[in-house]
Amino acid sequence: MGKGPQQATGQDKILQDQLRSSGVIPRHIAIIMDGNGRWAKKRGMPRIAGHAEGVESVRDTVEACGQLGVGFLTLYAFSTENWKRPKEEVSLLMRLLLKALKDETDRLNNNNVRLQAIGDIGALPSEVEQELCDDIEKTRDNTGLTLTLALSYSGRWDLTQAVRAMIRDAAAGKLSESEVNEAFIGQRLSTAGMPDPDLMVRTSGEFRISNFLLWELAYSEIYITEKYWPGFRREELYAAIGDYQKRERRFGMVSEQLK
Ligand code: FPP
Repeated sequence: MGKGPQQATGQDKILQDQLRSSGVIPRHIAIIMDGNGRWAKKRGMPRIAGHAEGVESVRDTVEACGQLGVGFLTLYAFSTENWKRPKEEVSLLMRLLLKALKDETDRLNNNNVRLQAIGDIGALPSEVEQELCDDIEKTRDNTGLTLTLALSYSGRWDLTQAVRAMIRDAAAGKLSESEVNEAFIGQRLSTAGMPDPDLMVRTSGEFRISNFLLWELAYSEIYITEKYWPGFRREELYAAIGDYQKRERRFGMVSEQLK
């Protein structure tokens, strides 16, 4: 038997079956995981406790996406701007990330999840970078959910590196103006080869995209929940997908053209 996510059971299976029959499951879901610090503060705990509980939310969301047949899940785990946080928090976050990667790779493998990363990976502490690269390698042949971690990532960073690479190619005579179109630019971004997100979820009630996937979110449906990320579990994901299924995606056209 091929490997795959352990299937949902009981009430959870009923909820997943309902979602499958009520509409299309988004092919790509992107999430801005926000509110870890506020979740912890509300409980009189240190911020890192919120990040640690956030790892549990990641685990549950990844499993549920795999079971539902979501193709791509992209998580904004650490932005370019997050480097400006107090040194101690950055260092604790990196340690947590390292531990999560070490602890979860076998589970990802058993669930047929392929791990990927986007962002300035070389800026991560070498131990984290090494573990990440090893885990990407270990899961590269998996054919289920593609889990992409955005690390030291921002949409502007990505567009900047893409423009620089194009300028280098043009200067070397390997690229002419007429070759540059939207598809070409998309192929120069770190998300090359992935479909654009159908649904973008942001937790903690903030109405911002915070430099996430600036190019790719052009036509994504956006779902904002008041829940802080550490309190986000699969039921919230189902609510987001259920809401998405009620949207009419017109891509600039009019309703009648979609019929
Ligand atoms: C935002 O909350 C969250 C982050 C900057 C880090 C997210 C990291 C994790 C969930 C843990 C590791 C991730 C993986 C993929 C294993 P915040 O700190 O901005 O919260 P606040 O707005 O309430 O201060």
